[in-house]
Amino acid sequence: MNENQIMESLQYISPVSVRVLTPADAEAYRSVRLRALHEQPPAFGSLPEVEPNLSETAARLAESDERCFFGAFQGEQLIGIIRLSRYSAPNEKHRAYLAGLYVLPPFRRHGCGQALVREVLSRAANAPGIRRVNLTVVTQQKAAIRLYQSFGFRIYGTEPETFSRDGQFYDEHLMTLELNSGNDRNA
Ligand SMILES: CC(C)(COP(=O)(O)OP(=O)(O)OC[C@H]1O[C@@H](n2cnc3c(N)ncnc32)[C@H](O)[C@@H]1OP(=O)(O)O)[C@@H](O)C(=O)NCCC(=O)NCCS
Repeated sequence: MNENQIMESLQYISPVSVRVLTPADAEAYRSVRLRALHEQPPAFGSLPEVEPNLSETAARLAESDERCFFGAFQGEQLIGIIRLSRYSAPNEKHRAYLAGLYVLPPFRRHGCGQALVREVLSRAANAPGIRRVNLTVVTQQKAAIRLYQSFGFRIYGTEPETFSRDGQFYDEHLMTLELNSGNDRNA
């Protein structure tokens, strides 16, 4: 059996669970994140060489009003990640953004990405004052775009040449989801 076949068979042994990540998950998170940043074609503009080190990563994983990381687990193994952030200025905190969604390739097409996005949107919907969730996605990442559209995100613009990698330029779609226009408490 190759790695993919072993991972495939594991799908049927333990279900995927999603939970908030904490500083104790720093090593596992950083390993998945670095793999994400090496993905080809690139799904992220961030460069692996400027990714925060382990202790900085642990500090970032401490949940705050402005930022929360979630992880999807198969048993004990972290297989997918996502982040929900919220603007902090009083006149901007009705906006949140979703970022960093990534599922390890052998575990794809089994509902993990969907579970992570669902969790983030549920958190945003239950946070007083958040009306809208935004994100950006590289135009080549058709699976991600389709996933976001299935949750109601729509493309409202496209930024040309957002970043370059190995001499090639990549565009990004800007997507938005109107979460709850009545969610004005503490806005
Ligand atoms: C996008 C990504 C997170 C999806 O993860 P996943 O666990 O495979 O997603 P799911 O199995 O939950 O699929 C959910 C939906 O996404 C869409 N989707 C996922 N993979 C797809 C593919 N290869 N082609 C077309 N649509 C796809 C489908 O709409 C799917 O629903 P369906 O199975 O009912 O058709 C994963 O492909 C990934 O990590 N991609 C690279 C990183 C990336 O693009 N991140 C986005 C950064 S903004």
